[in-house]
Amino acid sequence: MAHTLPNLAYAHNALEPFIDTMTMEIHHGRHHKAYVDNLNKALEGQAALASKSIEQLLREINQAPDSIRQALINNGGGHANHTMFWELMAPGAGGEPTGPLADDIKATFTDFASFKAQVNDAGMKRFGSGWSWLVLADNKLKIVSTANQESPYMTGQAPILGVDVWEHAYYLKYQNKRADYLNAWWSVVNWKVVAQRHAMALAGKL
Ligand SMILES: [Fe+2]
Repeated sequence: MAHTLPNLAYAHNALEPFIDTMTMEIHHGRHHKAYVDNLNKALEGQAALASKSIEQLLREINQAPDSIRQALINNGGGHANHTMFWELMAPGAGGEPTGPLADDIKATFTDFASFKAQVNDAGMKRFGSGWSWLVLADNKLKIVSTANQESPYMTGQAPILGVDVWEHAYYLKYQNKRADYLNAWWSVVNWKVVAQRHAMALAGKL
């Protein structure tokens, strides 16, 4: 079963002015598409892996054949990370979470502002390309960062929220100002989806 590029649930210009239209077009239509195409190429002739979901492929990355493992990390990670990233954003979103997710954030990071600052900090400290994440690890919330397209699934963590800090995610509008992009990004976070991922992770279903 070939992996496919998911459609966006909103128009390319829907996240303006926080994420610009051209960045969305190129990021989704070219970068993410390339990850999907190269993932499918890497999986050609790998019958045993054909039926596995992208999350399963990443969780079992250590069992992948040596010859394609790095291609799966780069492109499979790229596919999973971006699929989640599009779903985590929505027009007219932002604000703060409510319910169990908000309670868990408060219990773990003192308050929402500290949580946000720590996610931004992990994104700022990621040298070069990568991601800053809120994950569930050993049933606890944790902020981590990964390099390139490495996925938290690869180390048994469940990604609940993630922000792409590759330059392709922000350079057209923000140039070298990653901090400005990170601050603006919170205005498009769809907390409904993040709360669903939190609940699924706690139930062991993510
Ligand atoms: Fe990206």
